[in-house]
Amino acid sequence: MKNIQQAIRDLASKKNAVILAHYYQRAEIQDVADFIGDSLALAQKAAQTNADILVMCGVHFMAETAKILCPNKKVLIPDPTAGCSLADSCKAEDLAAWKKQHPDYQVVSYVNTSAAVKALTDVVVTSSNALKIVNHLPKDAKILFGPDQNLGAYINSVTGRNMELWNGCCHVHSRFSVEALLNLKQQYPNAKVLAHPECKQIILNLADVIGSTQAILNYVRQHPEEKDFIVVTESGILHEMRKACPEANLIPVPPEMTEGVGCSCNECEYMRQNTLEKLYECLLNESNEVIVPEEVAEKAVKPIQKMLDWSK
Ligand code: 13P
Ligand code: SF4
Repeated sequence: MKNIQQAIRDLASKKNAVILAHYYQRAEIQDVADFIGDSLALAQKAAQTNADILVMCGVHFMAETAKILCPNKKVLIPDPTAGCSLADSCKAEDLAAWKKQHPDYQVVSYVNTSAAVKALTDVVVTSSNALKIVNHLPKDAKILFGPDQNLGAYINSVTGRNMELWNGCCHVHSRFSVEALLNLKQQYPNAKVLAHPECKQIILNLADVIGSTQAILNYVRQHPEEKDFIVVTESGILHEMRKACPEANLIPVPPEMTEGVGCSCNECEYMRQNTLEKLYECLLNESNEVIVPEEVAEKAVKPIQKMLDWSK
């Protein structure tokens, strides 16, 4: 009898479907995907695909971005309720009110936002290209940035800008324990600390490398001479890192204790909602299709396309 991975691959080739997966997906989903990437790479791949069906193994805003870029393709998501606490922190109506209070400002939005928020945005960024895109704007541009205040503060500190920041953050990245990181640095004095810019400033101050999931992975790949790496991002990234660099000693940082109970999990529960079974079902039945209303997609595609053009 065929296993479920083989059944998924057979269905994908029969239906001319491409399976895209984020680095935070369950290992077994990453293993069955055609392509694994960070948010930017997933959007770029979606924009280029010749497939008839695109299955986005990630969270909802990633599938929406793919649909906006490929309006004529069928975009599916294994679990349509896989959301993002950061994207949820910024509702379109609240952003509209913020814009109204700042009429001469441009809006730069992180890709972790709904299609409706992107429709109110001038240019989108991901953690891969945020510095490049913001530097592309005139030095004196007045900017509203949302929804991740940690990423926004990091961009301000590197570019010397003074963007107004939305008060949002990712519940996984804002929870990493500074104390645990300091202890690990003491235990592994030669380790390089690799952190995602969604982490708090105090964590970023302790990092040797700050970058997207792809940048963090690339650093480990490109430094075989180094042994220990302290990884401060969602632990799903460790799967691809272990495959790419089996010799590296990868040390994940735990989150802070919650209400006195130690928790060793640094996983995004939304990302983990997708399973092989749900992927198989959605591909078989072509269910959980992601729909973005046309009038929203027409506006949202402009800041996404601008980002892709400026990223080249
Ligand atoms: P990347 O763009 O680095 O893949 O990050 C996406 C994300 O959701 C981080 O929490
Ligand atoms: Fe959203 Fe955080 Fe999960 Fe990334 S890790 S998808 S920002 S909740």
